[in-house]
Amino acid sequence: MKSLFALNHYLYKYRILLGLGMIFVITSNIFALFLPQLIRIGIEQIQIYLPFTYVFSGLKISNLYIDLIYVLIAIISIIIIITTLIRGILMFLMRQTLIVMSRHVEFDQKNELYQHYQKLTPSFFKRNSTGDMMSRISEDVSRVRMYVGPAIMYISGLVITFSLVIYSMVSINAYLAFWTLIPLPLLSYSIFKVSKIVNTKSEQIQKTLSTLTSKAQESYSGIKVIQGFARDQSVQNEFEELATQYRKESLSLAKVEAFFSPLMLLLVGISTLLAIYIGGNEVARGRFTAGNIAEFVVYINMLTWPVASLGWAVSLVQRAAASQKRINEFLQVSPDIVSGDKYKIDKIESIKFDKVTFIYPDTGIMALNNVSFEIKAGEKIAIVGKTGSGKSTIAELLVRNYDPNSGEILINNCPLKDNQLSHFRNLLGYVPQEVFLFSDSINNNISFGNPNASKKEIENFAQIASVYDDIMSLPKQFDTVVGERGVMLSGGQKQRVSIARALIKNPNVLLLDDCLSAVDSKTENAILSNFEKNWKEKTVISITHRLFTIKNFDKIIVLDNGTIVEIGQHDELYSKKGIYYDLYQLQLQEEVDSE
Ligand SMILES: Nc1ncnc2c1ncn2[C@@H]1O[C@H](COP(=O)(O)OP(=O)(O)OP(=O)(O)O)[C@@H](O)[C@H]1O
Ligand SMILES: [Mg+2]
Repeated sequence: MKSLFALNHYLYKYRILLGLGMIFVITSNIFALFLPQLIRIGIEQIQIYLPFTYVFSGLKISNLYIDLIYVLIAIISIIIIITTLIRGILMFLMRQTLIVMSRHVEFDQKNELYQHYQKLTPSFFKRNSTGDMMSRISEDVSRVRMYVGPAIMYISGLVITFSLVIYSMVSINAYLAFWTLIPLPLLSYSIFKVSKIVNTKSEQIQKTLSTLTSKAQESYSGIKVIQGFARDQSVQNEFEELATQYRKESLSLAKVEAFFSPLMLLLVGISTLLAIYIGGNEVARGRFTAGNIAEFVVYINMLTWPVASLGWAVSLVQRAAASQKRINEFLQVSPDIVSGDKYKIDKIESIKFDKVTFIYPDTGIMALNNVSFEIKAGEKIAIVGKTGSGKSTIAELLVRNYDPNSGEILINNCPLKDNQLSHFRNLLGYVPQEVFLFSDSINNNISFGNPNASKKEIENFAQIASVYDDIMSLPKQFDTVVGERGVMLSGGQKQRVSIARALIKNPNVLLLDDCLSAVDSKTENAILSNFEKNWKEKTVISITHRLFTIKNFDKIIVLDNGTIVEIGQHDELYSKKGIYYDLYQLQLQEEVDSE
């Protein structure tokens, strides 16, 4: 339950709505109490005047008494209608305050979680599945809302109805009150038990349903592989198995739920029966009026819903507490990377890796070991090496997705950590190894790098990235929507669109992580010479597998197993006959083989 305390600041924020809501809960319950009393008064009045009609039967005065009874009934009915109307309005206002408050809290909480997600680093997103994060922001938040809104409303209404009704019952006849109230705790307890079973079952159903949906979703995205491997039937069978399980669980839930209202009616029926039987005896002894019996029956009915909802409300609170605990867990994850605030540079003059060592936290793999190098503004640098040698890790450290375990990265000779992070990242044009495009138009995907870019600029940068002709041959050209993650484009087209997206930022430093791997060498050469023409003054760091394209680069860094083994220009490294030479020979061989 403690986890729900995390919501107190929201309750405080919406204290006016909460306070008003409480007032409406109290007043609407007081108005509800008028009904049984008015019914009793009505019956008592009739009991008083009815005998006169018999006594004077046949006389004119008898008709007068009959008229009087009609008038009394009419007056009481009108009062009942008016009080019920007022109660209805108060209940409407109660919902307008408390339920509205719960929607506000839901909105705030969703935003709070989303904002927090935005601050977390890639390693958090690797550790937690998308499904889990989605369910915390949607399902868990809506369960918490059920506590903030309905549960608070019902529980407070229940406490008030209880105290008022039981007080009235006891003050009329404690003995009868005692007997009629006996079945109610039983009702509450059994409903609590039933709701628990219902909840466990619904949770299980929810889980099965989410497996079912993710299974379906995965098979839609992997349909090519499924059909290509002719596995349609077995995938279909797996799906059917899950669907059967879902049906079984749903039917079993329906059975339990079917038990719910008969049980409630039975226990309420017993209470009513007791009220009439024992009440009747009391009337015979003259301690009670017939009006009192009617009043009691209405009281019992008034208690039914609160007593029934008590079990339900308690289970709502329990579920909300469990959900809030899960939400708190995520909110308490503090981001690994925190922005510095000491520097806000306008230009990257130099980048220096000083004895940088980095170990991936999840796998414990040492991806970089004592790496040092320096890059000056305007230089063209290539990073090469075998797969898994740590090239991408250098890029990840430079954009500060991770921080080094030891050593330091210096920008303009000042620690990268002390730089204002988003400001620094704005100076970088990073094209990650794994291309990601949004399911939006090509136009919007490119202008993502600079939302203020004009149509002309977008076209210009598409030309520099050598993707302009490809785009123009598409049916809707720049307005073509690329589909989820860009599925409508070829691998090489996606890569070049993402390069255009980085270029349009007009960054100081262009950081390309193997982003031309799916492009043929001719196109790669064209792009690099475009850079040469248009971007002379820019710093380019290019991680690549293709050694022919980097012959003219100012510096080539050769990585092997996380350490720098060679560093220098092409001719230098080639004549050394070391690892670079071997890699180069290997590629020459491949080139000859493929011809
Ligand atoms: N997110 C990660 N979590 C844990 N270990 C990782 C992660 N990313 C990479 N590694 C490990 O770190 C090492 C270096 O990986 P890195 O991605 O830097 O290699 P790379 O040189 O870019 O390779 P490639 O040419 O295949 O892209 C590898 O051994 C890899 O298994
Ligand atoms: Mg890589």
